[in-house]
Amino acid sequence: MNVSDLFTKRTLACHARLLVLIEKYSTGNELGLFKLAFTANLANCSKLLPPITSRGPMAPGAWMTGFYIGETYLENNVLHYFENRLKKTIKGEKDYLNQINPVGELNFSNIKYSNTYKTLQNDAKSLDIESESIDYIFTDPPYGDAVPYFEQSIIWNSWLKLKPDYENEIVISDSKERDKNVDNFEEEINMAFSEIRRVLKPNKYLSLTYHSLSGAEWKAITNACIKNGFELIEYKWLVQKSFTPRQINRFKTIKGDVLVTLQKNTNYMPLIVKSDDEVANMFKRQIEQWLLNEKRIDTNEIFLRIMKKVFSDKIIIGNVDLLKILTENFVFSEQKQWRLKNDQIELQTA
Ligand SMILES: C[S@@+](CC[C@H](N)C(=O)[O-])C[C@H]1O[C@@H](n2cnc3c(N)ncnc32)[C@H](O)[C@@H]1O
Repeated sequence: MNVSDLFTKRTLACHARLLVLIEKYSTGNELGLFKLAFTANLANCSKLLPPITSRGPMAPGAWMTGFYIGETYLENNVLHYFENRLKKTIKGEKDYLNQINPVGELNFSNIKYSNTYKTLQNDAKSLDIESESIDYIFTDPPYGDAVPYFEQSIIWNSWLKLKPDYENEIVISDSKERDKNVDNFEEEINMAFSEIRRVLKPNKYLSLTYHSLSGAEWKAITNACIKNGFELIEYKWLVQKSFTPRQINRFKTIKGDVLVTLQKNTNYMPLIVKSDDEVANMFKRQIEQWLLNEKRIDTNEIFLRIMKKVFSDKIIIGNVDLLKILTENFVFSEQKQWRLKNDQIELQTA
């Protein structure tokens, strides 16, 4: 397939004509703004748009998770939707610029900002930023093999004639053309976190969001934080989803995005390097202890506590699967919580 296959003949022709006109009559910042609105409109006026009836409340379009053209799709009017996008883009840009440098009647803020900003498109493994010059870092690292961001951005890159730096992408891919396995991912995440450490001022903070606290990807991030001398300060669940009783089994996995804040520690502590079996046993014993005291604990809470322990004891995790430890050694109750095995036997005999 080609990117052009994602469009009907009519929308393809309309987008092409629109882009030619934008490039012919616009320059500078205005051209940038038009192109932003143009790309924001592309998928929305493509065959990727499912008919309204098949859309769930959280399914704005089929380009969020991959490229899928259904049996039927909507064909939106390119120019009409572009005009809407342009209005929204201008409004967004104004709001944004108001935070940086107030402009006339659009200044809705009482605070007089004198901020400036700089956008960089560096590879996160090699930032064009001075060492120890940054007060705070917020990062949203890539999700391993869950979303192939660069590959999926082909729909926009092809129209803008841009070629992403695929080689340096931090991602997990089973494509034979790409040398991107889990080990590379861990190594490259570690390089990015060592850059974060380099540019952050001593004792300053780093926050990161992630979609889960389990799996090889989270392990890569945890190990990178520990190896690069970050102390865990705070964590928060960002979304607490609720599930119907029929989805009870899903409670065995952990849910929701997490926001973790860490501090750059200026003295590197020696790391505890343990074998996988030792770490697995340590987790098992620790969970037993918690369950002995508290009887029932849910999956999210166990993952959070283990993460806290990993950070406070500076444990580099190898191939240890916490969910496997839980399922093999503990009982998952109907109340969606974990308990000790013999606790269950006691309950049955009572
Ligand atoms: C979880 S997403 C973050 C999305 C972002 N918060 C947003 O709202 O657009 C991770 C991002 O990391 C980018 N990424 C992957 N490898 C990278 C690298 N080597 N340097 C910089 N960014 C990279 C991906 O393209 C993706 O956009």
